[in-house]
Amino acid sequence: MIKIKDKLFHLHNNNISYYIYCNSHGHLETIYFGEYLEDIGNIDAIRKADIDNDTTQYFDFSKNKEFTYPDHYRYSIESVEISTHGLRDKRGAPIILKKEDGTNVTDFRFVSYEILESLPTYEELPYARKNSSPCQTLRILLKDYLSDIYVYENISIFEDKDIIIKNFEIVNKGNIIVPILRANSMQLDLKDNQYKLHHFAGKWASERFEVVTDIKDGIQEVSSNTGRSSHEENPFVFLTKKDTSYDKGEVIGFNLIYSGNFSFRTFNNSFCNTHITYGINDEDFNWMLKPNEVFVTPQAVISYSQDGIDGMSINMHKFVKENIVNPLLDQKEKPILFNSWEGCYFDFTTESIISYIDDSLKIGSELFVLDDGWFGKRDNDESGLGDWFVNENKINLKKVVDHCTSKGMNFGIWFEPEMINPDSNLYREHPEYILTCKGMDQVSLYRHQLVLDFSSEEVVENIYQQMIKIIDSYDISYIKWDHNRMINEHFSFHHNKENQGEIYHRVILGYYTLIKKLTQRYPDILFEGCASGGGRFDLGTLFYYPQIWASDDTDPIQRMYIQYNTSLGYPLSTIGSHASANPITSYKTKALLALFGTYGYEMNPNKLNEKEISELSEVASIYKKYHHEVIANGTLYHLSSPQDSNAMSMCSVSKDKSKALVIYMNLLKEYKKTRFLKLRGLEKNKKYRNSFDNNIFTGDYYEKVGINLSRQYLPEFECQLFILEEVE
Ligand code: GLA
Repeated sequence: MIKIKDKLFHLHNNNISYYIYCNSHGHLETIYFGEYLEDIGNIDAIRKADIDNDTTQYFDFSKNKEFTYPDHYRYSIESVEISTHGLRDKRGAPIILKKEDGTNVTDFRFVSYEILESLPTYEELPYARKNSSPCQTLRILLKDYLSDIYVYENISIFEDKDIIIKNFEIVNKGNIIVPILRANSMQLDLKDNQYKLHHFAGKWASERFEVVTDIKDGIQEVSSNTGRSSHEENPFVFLTKKDTSYDKGEVIGFNLIYSGNFSFRTFNNSFCNTHITYGINDEDFNWMLKPNEVFVTPQAVISYSQDGIDGMSINMHKFVKENIVNPLLDQKEKPILFNSWEGCYFDFTTESIISYIDDSLKIGSELFVLDDGWFGKRDNDESGLGDWFVNENKINLKKVVDHCTSKGMNFGIWFEPEMINPDSNLYREHPEYILTCKGMDQVSLYRHQLVLDFSSEEVVENIYQQMIKIIDSYDISYIKWDHNRMINEHFSFHHNKENQGEIYHRVILGYYTLIKKLTQRYPDILFEGCASGGGRFDLGTLFYYPQIWASDDTDPIQRMYIQYNTSLGYPLSTIGSHASANPITSYKTKALLALFGTYGYEMNPNKLNEKEISELSEVASIYKKYHHEVIANGTLYHLSSPQDSNAMSMCSVSKDKSKALVIYMNLLKEYKKTRFLKLRGLEKNKKYRNSFDNNIFTGDYYEKVGINLSRQYLPEFECQLFILEEVE
């Protein structure tokens, strides 16, 4: 996978090649990144920018004279692994250091390298897990020319998936503290500027709307500065070419194994290159790196494909399932979940919850989740966060849990560990536990809450102790972990003034510390991430939890966009989705959409009529029969995007290609009606019976002709499921 000849490194598998060359200045040049290329030939033909007769001038102070570089290396034009800063290169360096003399010239040059037969792992941060498939890491050590700061650049490659993982580890081998002003995880310079950038913008209850723009000359940025990966943008982005489709053409996907502020930045220059840097957002970032300490940047993930958007997406899904999500949790069959939130919000009693449990059984529920409102003084969202003890006046939790388990159901509960209401015992006892804005007369509230200072070990430990008291006292199988506001003010009482630029990152490290402790202590509990819906849908969270609630919008028409777009970067098995009481469409439609996610319910089950119970039970039995094999572990193909057609359609095919589930959701009644729905991913020569018209066709036929939808009328906003099974 990694070959080296004359300081030319070639990382490759059967499909991709990544060539890096260490030039005579000690700078790492990115010679080539793309489709597999066995013989790169004379690299000078690629690396020299043919301008100004190939010369680069410089002034040598010691000789008081002008020279040209002997090997014609052109700063600011050649593709490199780490651009310099404060020198010639103006495209944007991934790392910037502040020096003792006040300058911030940063220039990393080659020292040595090693090859590891594994992937780097970290104590404080989530990382890509090694599994049984072969992988290698090229670990290059570089030194800053004007200081004792060293950098390890790690680049990992897999044999069985077209994924590259990159990050930097910044090491202080000097004897003074060095401020790091920027600590991105990677740079990638592409020798082309004809790309489109796809990113996923949104807001609360309408996360991840796909936005596509041409990468234009100058700077473009996709970022979050809200203290979490955010509703506003997602760390998953990808690049396509003009002629790329779902099944053909070049696509480069990116993601970051991180849950906090990020910045994905492109810069196109006049020499037709695209310069990409990606990592922690440097806004409000200033890390004081002490002697002998290491700053580890989160790992960035690159998924490369020549097989269109689905090629990239399938690659990402495989990576997330095999190398991010804990494999034991990923492979556990998930129970059908019933969540109390949309059914009763804060308004419940022991008896009403018991009646919910009983009625949820009628629609196949296997796990009952009591959402917000069971703790502290919590009858609405104005108080109680921070007080993780049962509100005995409101609910007899023991009775509820016992009732639940006596019915053969598992029990789950909601926490929002990183937040605090000013109206709480914890705040009254510890007003210094919050993140604030020093010296200001006010601090912002969202949903009446403040953010706990998770950069402090004491605060994290306090919440940990409160949580384990509850978890140890009741039979709990599931925890929904919420995070209901962004982080605006970020002054910490627990750190010196010099270290206030570390708080955003330290808060995320605190989040990881707590979830790591809890998931290690309770390996059998199913954790689900949530942040006002899908405000923290990222690989950092998925490293600890196998699934994340996708959005607070459960109206299937809105949610269809959210789930479809989320599934471009994340496997369906990670996308928390429930059928709810939302009035616009039938329960069948809502449940079928939820089936293309983790599947569950969220409504008042006392109000379900016979027809609704039967519709939901029917989908529940499809879930039990097919979901684990065909959806959770299948291969997903995107057939029709709701953003640019009149329908949403996806097809998930089991690994052995013997079964497929196809969802088709109608947006408009007649206009531009789809006649034939062409499927993908089936075995060409296998024959399949489809549940739509009971016909048997070959995989080839389904791909080239498709299912004739005009044979049945599908009302507006309704949804259909086609089950395909192989026949002899
Ligand atoms: C957030 C979540 C919801 C629910 C409420 C409870 O909005 O996204 O699912 O848990 O909090 O307050």
